[in-house]
Amino acid sequence: MAVLNIREIGDPVLRTRAKDVVKITDKTLRLIDNMCSTMIENEGIGLAAPQVGVSQRVIVLREGGEDENNCRALINPKIVEQKGKKTAEEGCLSIPDRRGLVARAKKITVKALNKKGEKISIQAEEMLARVIQHEIDHLNGVLFVDKLIEMEDQFDNLTKTR
Ligand code: NI
Repeated sequence: MAVLNIREIGDPVLRTRAKDVVKITDKTLRLIDNMCSTMIENEGIGLAAPQVGVSQRVIVLREGGEDENNCRALINPKIVEQKGKKTAEEGCLSIPDRRGLVARAKKITVKALNKKGEKISIQAEEMLARVIQHEIDHLNGVLFVDKLIEMEDQFDNLTKTR
């Protein structure tokens, strides 16, 4: 497993719509392993393939929160249901030293393929739901800074963290 370089904002790969994985090959599995190492090494809780320069619809998630090193891959993930709305602070490994408030669905149902190519369905809420939505945005060339909420009373806090 290798730790890969993380692409940062300004890199066109982060603004490109990633392609579906048509077939899960050894190369896909290697990519997933390397994305897991890269996420854990950088203390991230989620990572999308475009962030390591690969324009394919693959994301990895750290399961069990920041203290866990378990890594789960979702291939061709798709949100099929969403409920509620919650605003919370986010950051991104591709946008160092910047954080901001983003509104996301509170609960989601996601369909995807796992590493073995099996169809899976995940229900997620709160933090995990937020991370999955953030990572799927990456697959569509969308970054959290595109979605910042800049209400007047939050503006001071936001600018301090930029
Ligand atoms: Ni990100």
